Amino acid sequence: MKTAIIGANGQLGSAISDYFSQNHGVIKLTHEDIEISDIDNVRDVLKSSGAELVISTAAYHNVPKCEENPAVAYSVNAVGSLNLARITHELDIPLLHYSTDYVFDGSKLSPYHEDDETHPLNVYAESKLSGENLIRNYCQRYFIIRVSGLYGRTVCRAKGGNFITTMMKAAREKPEVRVVTDEILTPTPVTEIAMNSFYLAETDAYGLYHMTSQGECSWYEFAEVIFDELGLSTPLKEALTDDFPQTVNRPTYSVLENRNLKSIARDKMSPWKTSLQTYLRSF
Ligand SMILES: NC(=O)c1ccc[n+]([C@@H]2O[C@H](COP(=O)([O-])OP(=O)(O)OC[C@H]3O[C@@H](n4cnc5c(N)ncnc54)[C@H](OP(=O)(O)O)[C@@H]3O)[C@@H](O)[C@H]2O)c1
Repeated sequence: MKTAIIGANGQLGSAISDYFSQNHGVIKLTHEDIEISDIDNVRDVLKSSGAELVISTAAYHNVPKCEENPAVAYSVNAVGSLNLARITHELDIPLLHYSTDYVFDGSKLSPYHEDDETHPLNVYAESKLSGENLIRNYCQRYFIIRVSGLYGRTVCRAKGGNFITTMMKAAREKPEVRVVTDEILTPTPVTEIAMNSFYLAETDAYGLYHMTSQGECSWYEFAEVIFDELGLSTPLKEALTDDFPQTVNRPTYSVLENRNLKSIARDKMSPWKTSLQTYLRSF
């Protein structure tokens, strides 16, 4: 299936491009090739690409910047998603789009499944949820996949790194590294998202999916594995969220359960620690 990948040079887009190109013809689209907030451009590029499936990883997702520039956040994350929904519907091809664990407020304190009520706490999350809703209303053949805590070889362009590179830098530059124990997530490698997305895209089980590694940990536990595996000798110390100034509200618990993937026997995600150790040992 000829697949157009938007954001192909991003953290997730690179892994998707690598995985899909083993089995499909792939059209790699970077921000230089397509602007998702411009519907005429989206129509021109996707129509001439001849794509039979569109995958979009594009987002404006530096969380503090979204708070400062809500108009940009909405133009990319909401209107951009609407444009993709309209044009893929017009071209009669499926759309696979990525969203976020941040659509929840974290108050549930147990893993969120797809039917749980959303309650975004910041502009980034609100704009991504708007994008989800617009896709649901404007095209029928969609996969919306909520992911969390991504890491991969190509770092996140919007954030200029990922948690692993941040820890490596901090260990190099600081006398000690302090990481919070009271924010819980599921670290997830982009390679597994790419593989699972591939298997999902082979079906016509359109809808909303959570797709993260199995289990959960605090950012401190995430850091502990990084320090152990990479042999970083800088002292790693526990901290609390309140120890750091907060510029943006974030959920302190954002663990997702892959319930819909399980229901169609497509949940091939591994435990977070095993995947992280495997990844770090390949450095
Ligand atoms: N990273 C995480 O931990 C995380 C967690 C939850 C959800 N997500 C979601 O996962 C997706 C992928 O994240 P990622 O870490 O791979 O991000 P990334 O590395 O920043 O990649 C995003 C890609 O989209 C492109 N892009 C941005 N705005 C665009 C626009 N208006 N039109 C066309 N292309 C545009 C970027 O190009 P430029 O950089 O050149 O602008 C980049 O290639 C996003 O939807 C994000 O919301 C990520």
